[in-house]
Amino acid sequence: MRGLIARPKSNNIIYKTDEEIEYLREACLLVCKVLTYVGANIRPGMTGTQLDLEAEQIIRDHGAEPAFKGYRGFPSTLCISVNEVIVHGIPAEQEFKDGDIVSVDCGTLMKSGFHGDAAYTFPIGEVDEKVMQLCSVTKASLYRGIEQAVSGHRLGDISYAIQHYTERENGYSVVRELVGHGVGKSLHEDPEVANYGRRGNGLKLQDGLVIAIEPMINLGRKDVQQAKDGWTIFAQDLLPSAHYEHTIAVRKGKADILSNHLPVEKAIANNPNVMEVISADEQVEVS
Ligand code: MF3
Ligand code: CO
Ligand code: CO
Repeated sequence: MRGLIARPKSNNIIYKTDEEIEYLREACLLVCKVLTYVGANIRPGMTGTQLDLEAEQIIRDHGAEPAFKGYRGFPSTLCISVNEVIVHGIPAEQEFKDGDIVSVDCGTLMKSGFHGDAAYTFPIGEVDEKVMQLCSVTKASLYRGIEQAVSGHRLGDISYAIQHYTERENGYSVVRELVGHGVGKSLHEDPEVANYGRRGNGLKLQDGLVIAIEPMINLGRKDVQQAKDGWTIFAQDLLPSAHYEHTIAVRKGKADILSNHLPVEKAIANNPNVMEVISADEQVEVS
């Protein structure tokens, strides 16, 4: 996401044609192939470094490039953010352990010149119920936001839906310092897509707009801190944080989700070392 790094407050929105949207979809589906690999293979004892090497190989095997590697000096293909780390964690030799939640964010740059961007938070082994609920609500909040991404609505409707659901309805905290963004020939384009805001405010949505929506939600307080490595952003109170991201296009008046979490979730369902995140909106009370 954009933020903390630099926030030019310009509004230079580059709307995409249907053909360009298909290139963007291709880029996003490659990201999801990587996330599916992660979903199938992640387990306690594995390291971020291992996942990162494999992710880079998958992307290059498809004739594409990892978009994050070298982006403003970022050293790797994936951002791997464990527990209290919100985003921009650098893959490390540290082994994942039972009870961790591991957010994996990936970007691709295709030969077409277009980028893909998506993320998923994986609960490893046996994860605390409170933390699972954070993941479920964060994932559901992404879809609450996407629901609002229809032409005629405004950016603030997306922001408000995410904030209202996560903070008011569920008592979590939206991270303010980092936001979603436009996606295109640049990884980060205008507009900014905040996960907090007011209904009816901001840019009016119309066909051709392509944005990454990416709620970053803290179990505790909203305050963040940046590690000395210049990248890692973590919750100041050291409580866990979750992150789910889709790139979507507004097309024919509606939200067209260009990335796809379904294959990722199929892989998780077949991996006994990862817990399935059932979106909070899909959970049914059993009486
Ligand atoms: N995770 C960010 C996003 O989803 C991008 C990370 S840029 C990097 O937009 F340099 F940190 F990799
Ligand atoms: Co993004
Ligand atoms: Co991302």
